[in-house]
Amino acid sequence: MRKILIIGNWKMNLNTSEASLLVHRLAERIKIHRDIEIVLAPTMLTLQPLSLQIDRRKFRLAAQNAYHRDEGAFTGEVSFTMLRDLIHYCIIGHSERRHIFNEDLPTIRDKVSAAVRNDIIPILCVGETKTERQDGETKQVLHDQLMSGLANLTAKEVGQSVIAYEPVWAIGTGDIAPPDKAAEAVAYIRNYIRDVFGTRPAQKIRVLYGGSVTPDIVSGYLEIPGVDGFLVGGASLNYESFSGIVESARKWQRRHAEVENER
Ligand code: PGA
Repeated sequence: MRKILIIGNWKMNLNTSEASLLVHRLAERIKIHRDIEIVLAPTMLTLQPLSLQIDRRKFRLAAQNAYHRDEGAFTGEVSFTMLRDLIHYCIIGHSERRHIFNEDLPTIRDKVSAAVRNDIIPILCVGETKTERQDGETKQVLHDQLMSGLANLTAKEVGQSVIAYEPVWAIGTGDIAPPDKAAEAVAYIRNYIRDVFGTRPAQKIRVLYGGSVTPDIVSGYLEIPGVDGFLVGGASLNYESFSGIVESARKWQRRHAEVENER
C-alpha cells in the first residue's frame, strides 16, 4: 500500500509552550499508523524542544525554511547543516516565501540543493496565482518552478523528494481547488518528472495537495491519481482538525484496501 504523507505547516504561529501543548494533544489522539507518515513543521524556535518531545514513531519534523549556505556571515539565518540532526524534511519555495520574502527561482533551487546535500528531504512547493490561472499560464508556471527547483538534483534524488502542489489562490482562503483542476496539475507534475528524469522518479516522487485542506476533502482528494497526501496550513493548528485529517486518511486507506482485496 502506498504510504500517505500528511504535513502540518504551522507557519509563524505558536510559541514554545503552545507548540508543546499541541504536540501533546495530537499524540493523545493520533495512533501510530504504519501507512501514514505525519510531519510537523513548527517555527525554527520550537524545532529543538519538539525534537526531544515527539515520539518519532508517530511524528517527524520539518523546517519551514533554511539558508542554503552552510555557515558564515549571514545575519539572522539558520543553515540546513545546522538542522540536519533535527529534521527529516524542509518546506522550500512556499508561496509565502516566494511572494512576501521575494524568493526567486535561483534561491529556491539553491535551497533544494542544500537540503539534499544535508540529507534533508525537500518539500518543494509549486503553484500558480489566481491571475496566472485566469491567463491560462498554470502549466507554464509549474514548468518553470519545477525546472528550476529540481535543476541540480539527480534522477534518484528527485525520486526521493516531495512536491506540494499548492495553488496560491487556495492557500488560507477556504477556496479549495476543484478536484479536476488539482488532478490536471498533479498529472502535469508527474509527466514533467517522467519526461525529464525518467519513469522511476516519476513513480517514486511524492506529490501532495495543499490549500485549505480540511478533514472533509481528504477522501475526495486521495481518489485523485497521483496524490500522496497533503500539506496542511490552518487546519494543522487545531488538534481536532489535524487529527481529523489523519483519521479521514486512515479510513480512506482502509476502504481502499478492502476494495483492492475484493478484486
Ligand atoms: P492552508 O495553508 O491549509 O491554511 O490553506 C496551506 C499552506 O500554506 O501550506
